[in-house]
Amino acid sequence: MTSFGRVAARIDEARLWDRHEALARAGATARGGVDRQALSDEEIAAKRILLGWAGAAGLEAATDPIGNFFLRLPGREPALPPVLTGSHIDSQPTGGKYDGVYGVLAGLEVVEAMRAEGIRPRRTVEIVAWTNEEGSRFAPGMMGSEAFAGVRPLDAILPVADAAGVRVEAELARLFAAFPEMAVRPLGFPVAAYVEAHIEQGPELEAAGRQVGVVTGIQGKKTWKVAVHGEEAHAGTTPRRRRKDALAAAAAMIAAMHGAIVDADDVVRFTVGRIAVEPNAPSVVPATAVFSIDLRHPDGATLDRFGATVERLCADHAGPCTVAVTPLVDAAPLIFPAAMQEIVRTTAERLGLSPMALPSAAGHDARNLHIICPSGMIFVPCAGGISHNEAEATLPADLAAGARVLAEVLVQLAERA
Ligand code: GLV
Ligand code: MN
Ligand code: MN
Repeated sequence: MTSFGRVAARIDEARLWDRHEALARAGATARGGVDRQALSDEEIAAKRILLGWAGAAGLEAATDPIGNFFLRLPGREPALPPVLTGSHIDSQPTGGKYDGVYGVLAGLEVVEAMRAEGIRPRRTVEIVAWTNEEGSRFAPGMMGSEAFAGVRPLDAILPVADAAGVRVEAELARLFAAFPEMAVRPLGFPVAAYVEAHIEQGPELEAAGRQVGVVTGIQGKKTWKVAVHGEEAHAGTTPRRRRKDALAAAAAMIAAMHGAIVDADDVVRFTVGRIAVEPNAPSVVPATAVFSIDLRHPDGATLDRFGATVERLCADHAGPCTVAVTPLVDAAPLIFPAAMQEIVRTTAERLGLSPMALPSAAGHDARNLHIICPSGMIFVPCAGGISHNEAEATLPADLAAGARVLAEVLVQLAERA
């Protein structure tokens, strides 16, 4: 077995940083961020760049029926279930260069380092870029890892449409046509272990002056789609009492939930991030208003308690309109296995870092892999905890530190019988 630290020593900080810059050109925004939504041309362009690097590194590329992207370094015993690492390369509409991308590029850097060191691990190591983690174009997100882990059937995902009515199924066909040479493997396979590296997207590591976080778990999340229906009417002639104003009702619901879903310790997270109004004309009383709800809490019972108020508050504030509240995501909080936390912690310590244990307030594909195999996560800091924002920023040395930990964790996991 390779002696500890040799693969980590091969991590190339400059290459890892430059690749983030290069990938960020696919979907670059004027304000220095990225708009690379799931299954878009921009994401196809980013996958082409990834494939170029993977090809040069001698990795085998494959996809699956939901468009997950796998880059594989075959192990000495390729029949054994592989060790998987990665994240996603789709972004929010005003996303940064690191959310998700880091997990994929750190995985690639580890494999480059293994090759540079001349080691071929016992188990195959695969890097994965999961399809549609973000869920901004096609909601809800995490489609790739959910389909892979059997959390949501493919049949329920393929018909999902974006705001323009374009279906996942059609965009997948376009993706496969863009990469005709790529093998399409069946959905899902046994995985020995999954490790996802990610920027923290919160302020804790930076505030504590630590380069590496051992992620203890992921807080729970529930989402809904709320559709309020009223009736179009003339803005000048229709008295208030005769109106069925869907936007006024939606505004009352949202205000009521913002008022009720609060706690003294400021832990609960409640967000209405999207609203679409029809017909969306200045002089027409809105006939429909459709909005999103994203609710999160680290404690399952508390999340359920707040979640139970959503439907009631929407019904109570519908006024003359009708309302349909559709649950989309219901993900309980989770704790990663102690052994996975331990291997990340001890590896970071042996590398001379002083890791900090912390929960993830953001969601990650590791949530779904956790269901099917031992899973864990490694965090690195990001400036001011800013994320889902074009201003997202990190330091090359921090990205490299996290990749070194990932390298030695993967070496150990991939050598296990
Ligand atoms: C993932 O991007 C999340 O919203 O937590
Ligand atoms: Mn992410
Ligand atoms: Mn994100």
